[in-house]
Amino acid sequence: MQPLALYIHWPFCLAKCPYCDFNSHVRDKIPEARMVAALRRELAAEAARLAPRRLSSIFFGGGTPSLLAPDNVALLIADATRLFTPAEDIEITLEANPTSVEAGRFAGYAAAGVNRVSIGVQSLDPAALGFLGREHSAAQAIAAIELGAKIFPRLSFDLIYARPGQSVAAWRAELRAALSFAADHLSLYQLTIEAGTKFATLYQRGAFALPDEDLAAALYEATAEEAAQFGLQSYEISNYAKPGRESRHNLAYWRYEDYAGIGPGAHGRLTLRGGLYATSRHRAPEAWAELAEAGASCREDIIPMPDRAREALLMGLRLAEGIARPYFEARTGVALLDAVDPMILEAAIAEGYLVLTDERLTATGEGRQRLDALLPRLAR
Ligand SMILES: C[S@@+](CC[C@H](N)C(=O)[O-])C[C@H]1O[C@@H](n2cnc3c(N)ncnc32)[C@H](O)[C@@H]1O
Ligand code: SF4
Repeated sequence: MQPLALYIHWPFCLAKCPYCDFNSHVRDKIPEARMVAALRRELAAEAARLAPRRLSSIFFGGGTPSLLAPDNVALLIADATRLFTPAEDIEITLEANPTSVEAGRFAGYAAAGVNRVSIGVQSLDPAALGFLGREHSAAQAIAAIELGAKIFPRLSFDLIYARPGQSVAAWRAELRAALSFAADHLSLYQLTIEAGTKFATLYQRGAFALPDEDLAAALYEATAEEAAQFGLQSYEISNYAKPGRESRHNLAYWRYEDYAGIGPGAHGRLTLRGGLYATSRHRAPEAWAELAEAGASCREDIIPMPDRAREALLMGLRLAEGIARPYFEARTGVALLDAVDPMILEAAIAEGYLVLTDERLTATGEGRQRLDALLPRLAR
């Protein structure tokens, strides 16, 4: 049975963080019942055309899925595991914000079947949490991590670094403190300025500056060193895990495997009618719900050949394991060496950015830091 990863998007947050361009919305009253009914409808529609499939993972992402009532999470998990065939070791992750109210729902999520929590801590420094516009304190974040570690078999949390004025020494100290909590996985993101966010306006006005390229590179190297001290290996550009504790759900994206996405703005990559399709859905929650209620919320576009290879390269080179050449060919229909510019490939190998063997194409640590510049030239 072909495996499937399932993403469920919950598009609401208590407040909009100034750096964030995810599809998240603030409402006085979240229309939870209507949204959950529409999600269940989309799930049934996906199952009708995709099942039987072995469901390897479910990921509740957002937005802030920890605003959802545990009973509704239970309904969605029950639907998904009834409509598809759950793998024995199915991974079920829910993203949570660490306010005390949301931590209070952790036991309910675990009872619903969630076996992995991913907490948006962002920083353990009170001043940085203020700058990032977060709704929780460092103490609340630590309490949520400690509670989460007791309740869920697996736990990850997110931090944002390369913040204005952050030195390598200060980041090492913050990260070491974070690593002392029992997490088997961390997502460590460098702060990026996304168009349309409050930070984009402030940054353009010169209200703050970001670390220059050399400092950003030094911060990245320090991150991998500190994580390794605690047994967490860098397996993707921004993700670190103990061996075997990688996010299986996110690996499906990076390995360019099939995944279904439901909810406002969710996208998927699905094998349908023998072709590979990109699925997408309306981003605005209420407009999306209306379309879902009418059974018309999913747009499908076949992914033509050069795009398929480009996407597989873009995703696979983020991973420390790189790209398996036989799988690449089976998935995209083209041999890996026919999908890349031979001159750029040779130069990138000579520079130490890429490694090519009979089995795999892999980006080195240095290469993974330069992927944004390398990929547009590498892919044909
Ligand atoms: C969808 S958000 C997450 C979850 C949850 N709502 C929260 O805020 O904790 C996923 C993660 O992306 C990261 N992120 C979002 N925007 C970012 C940016 N501009 N720069 C760096 N990291 C960012 C944050 O670490 C965030 O936790
Ligand atoms: S970072 Fe998380 S809480 Fe903040 S706006 Fe984005 S999705 Fe919402």
